[in-house]
Amino acid sequence: MTSSGPRKFASINDADVNDKAVLVRVDFNVPFDQEGRITDDRRISSAVPTIRSILDRGGKAVLMSHLGRPEGTGYEAKQSLQPVATHLGTLLGRDVLFPSRDCVDEAATAAVDAMNPGDVLLLENLRFNPGEKAGSDHFAAHLAAYGDLYCNEAFGSAHRADASMVGVPSCMKPRPCVAGPLLEKEIRWLRDAISTPEHPFVAILGGAKISDKLGTIRNLAGKVDTLIVGGAMAFTLLKAMGHATGKSLVESSMIEEAGRIIADVEKTSTTLLLPTDFVCGEDPSGETHTEVFGRDIPEDFMGLDIGMKTTEAFTAAIRNARTIVWNGPMGLFEVPPFDVGTMQVGEAIRDATAKGASSIAGGGDTAAAVQAFGLNEGFSHVSTGGGASLKLLEGQKLPGLGVLDQT
Ligand code: 3PG
Repeated sequence: MTSSGPRKFASINDADVNDKAVLVRVDFNVPFDQEGRITDDRRISSAVPTIRSILDRGGKAVLMSHLGRPEGTGYEAKQSLQPVATHLGTLLGRDVLFPSRDCVDEAATAAVDAMNPGDVLLLENLRFNPGEKAGSDHFAAHLAAYGDLYCNEAFGSAHRADASMVGVPSCMKPRPCVAGPLLEKEIRWLRDAISTPEHPFVAILGGAKISDKLGTIRNLAGKVDTLIVGGAMAFTLLKAMGHATGKSLVESSMIEEAGRIIADVEKTSTTLLLPTDFVCGEDPSGETHTEVFGRDIPEDFMGLDIGMKTTEAFTAAIRNARTIVWNGPMGLFEVPPFDVGTMQVGEAIRDATAKGASSIAGGGDTAAAVQAFGLNEGFSHVSTGGGASLKLLEGQKLPGLGVLDQT
């Protein structure tokens, strides 16, 4: 790396952890089904090599995470990390200590103090304490006392300035504050690969709301060669162009802004590719009668997936690309038959990757689609971050990263 290149974070892999307590911020904010089963454990399994490496090198791993968005007024059974501790124990093949309902009470503190090298402990949900979201110094100081060094392995939370992300490492200095390999890998793909892409560079954006992706469109305009927009967010753009969108999801308050953004993208070197046909239904159920319409959709119908002509145009651009970024599905992919467009876009990205392109998928829905279609292995990188990956695509700084040691 040249001296003018991006600086690297100090890594946990290079830190001396022997006989030391490593306070690791992980993002174990995973989805559960109605029966309380974890439906996607990638955020847990991705952190396992990091935890194992700390333990194998004679360290003690004190893990901390949030789960969901509790009130911040104390323990809530539904948002407890207990099932995550059990699942982590299964993945690691050893017991995970889970001492208390409060991450900073006497029991938690005593359990951390009693740890031996090779032990792993998970603290209860940080957000049960109001200090986490408030970024309280007092709360941060209590957590900081648990570790001889701090490791940030929580890319999914890197856009949050919560106490465990910013206050704790700030408080721990001059003790080492390092990055985990998962965090480093996410940054390498989402920031560095995108800032020096191989061309053609194609971005595919989808999902329900254009308001969530305005910053991303603005940041990518002029950087990518082709900007593909599918999903319901395309209807707000088409409405701004004067098309009839029927019962499709449109963000009425964003129509004017959508018109401006189309004009702004057109002033750059980026080609904007919008859908030209849609698979439509009278309602979003898989049982509805479906028809394909062009850009003007009749009153009683809503667009639920991109049509075949659109899929052909989108996948042709993707197959030709050398760098591909994908954030947001092309339609209601959870409900067949509206999964076809998203699946074919995913498959085209897999094929381009097999021919040497770099491909990055980000965002919860996109990662779920990649997983559902069995395409995980076909991508260069599937991010564990939702909001955090979007912030990087918007070109924004992540608060949790600024406090880490650099080399
Ligand atoms: C996420 O899933 O985006 C992170 O875990 C952060 O969760 P939050 O949006 O509740 O802060």
